[in-house]
Amino acid sequence: TVVVRRRMRSGGRWSKAEAVVRELEERCSTPAGKLRQVADAMTVEMHAGLASEGGSKLKMLISYVDNLPTGDEKGLFYALDLGGTNFRVMRVQLGGKEARVAKQESEEVSIPPHLMTGSSHELFDFIAVELAKFVANEGEGFHLSDGRQRELGFTFSFPVRQTSISSGTLIKWTKGFSIEDAVGEDVVAELTKAMERQGLDMRVSALVNDTIGTLAGGRYVNKDVVVAVILGTGSNAAYVERAHAIPKWHGLLPKSGEMVINMEWGNFRSSHLPLTEYDQAMDAESLNPGEQIFEKLISGMYLGEIVRRVLLRMAEEAAFFGDTVPPKLRIPFILRTPDMSAMHHDSSPDLKVVGNKLRDILGITNTSLKTRKMIIKICDIVAARGARLAAAGIFGVLKKMGRDTIIRDGGEKQRTVVAVDGGLYEHYTFFRECLKSTMTELLGEDVSETVAMEHSNDGSGIGAALLSASHSQYLEVDES
Ligand code: GLC
Repeated sequence: TVVVRRRMRSGGRWSKAEAVVRELEERCSTPAGKLRQVADAMTVEMHAGLASEGGSKLKMLISYVDNLPTGDEKGLFYALDLGGTNFRVMRVQLGGKEARVAKQESEEVSIPPHLMTGSSHELFDFIAVELAKFVANEGEGFHLSDGRQRELGFTFSFPVRQTSISSGTLIKWTKGFSIEDAVGEDVVAELTKAMERQGLDMRVSALVNDTIGTLAGGRYVNKDVVVAVILGTGSNAAYVERAHAIPKWHGLLPKSGEMVINMEWGNFRSSHLPLTEYDQAMDAESLNPGEQIFEKLISGMYLGEIVRRVLLRMAEEAAFFGDTVPPKLRIPFILRTPDMSAMHHDSSPDLKVVGNKLRDILGITNTSLKTRKMIIKICDIVAARGARLAAAGIFGVLKKMGRDTIIRDGGEKQRTVVAVDGGLYEHYTFFRECLKSTMTELLGEDVSETVAMEHSNDGSGIGAALLSASHSQYLEVDES
């Protein structure tokens, strides 16, 4: 009878665990009808955000970029990219239509975590020191024209209220950053002061979001690029809007008639979003409760954390990992999305990768095949929800642009290219494939043949350098 009782108990455990997964699956489900509602809510918010300042959760920020790269850009330009767990410095020798990017070099430095929540001064000093070291190593193949000051495109991937192409104040931090004294400050002024403290003579000629950089870098290689999406630590999108469709813009109408908009879609929220108790708890305990709700469903900073929360509940309520709860499972953000992705893609028959990750990250040993399979199922549910919602977001943007149908430009069908960058898109194959198939599902076969998603590797760095070139202080001013 003892054995039977134990078996019953273990049977009860399984059925409880299975019930938790089943419930998760139901709550996370995103049938096409729901995605269409999300997409429509996105377009409604886009209109509201463009109509007036503070008109929507979608800030629809004006980038001051009214011309995208043409290929004529020439000279040596630097770029600095701050926004994830790393920051990158880069130099590019632009050679115009013929030579294009004649030479490029870059370096990546990881940001010491304490600087992400410290003071503005410390963060910018750290960046300026690394930048100065990089500039000091400028070698062969790079030429600065005589008497010129070095110029920099600064990719700063947080919401910024721009006051010009080369200045803007930080609205709030997102992702893992929280540095109170920088909020409301002009980030270019902060960086410039830090560069001066290092004796580095350099001018920021363009301040851009990573989505804007990616759009510029994408357009440089493909003239059909009109949207850029970041799926990385955070998530966001930018697109080309008609200037007269921006009621809140009171400046001069740009000659191009266009203005690039940084949507800050990470802050999108709608009653149609499938939020679970796990999402609610994660949000409540986050650095920015109530904010960036869309981002918390779809981006790399959060997917692994959602899976951890599901596993913790199963450990607590269904003894999923045995009679005690593995202590490490209680540590927030211990399960990173790259590890989730590695488990999810495990194709070995005994799911060895899953076993090893559980052991190495969470200290959980001796898991059964059945346990491992259920973990993969959880990854599947969480990643598919994120990818499908991201697709709904893109579909909403295309709808707003009138690119969700076939447009003829003369006889030719107009092509639409979405430049995508970010580690989640680049490295999480299941996520990327699911995103693509969902786009086809939403657009329909015919239209989807005219819409392409292209990975824009490092587009944001080159894009910032290109925008720095097109806004150089040495360009002749067009008087007309
Ligand atoms: C966050 C930032 C946004 C950025 C995105 C991707 O959502 O607020 O500015 O573009 O992450 O890095």
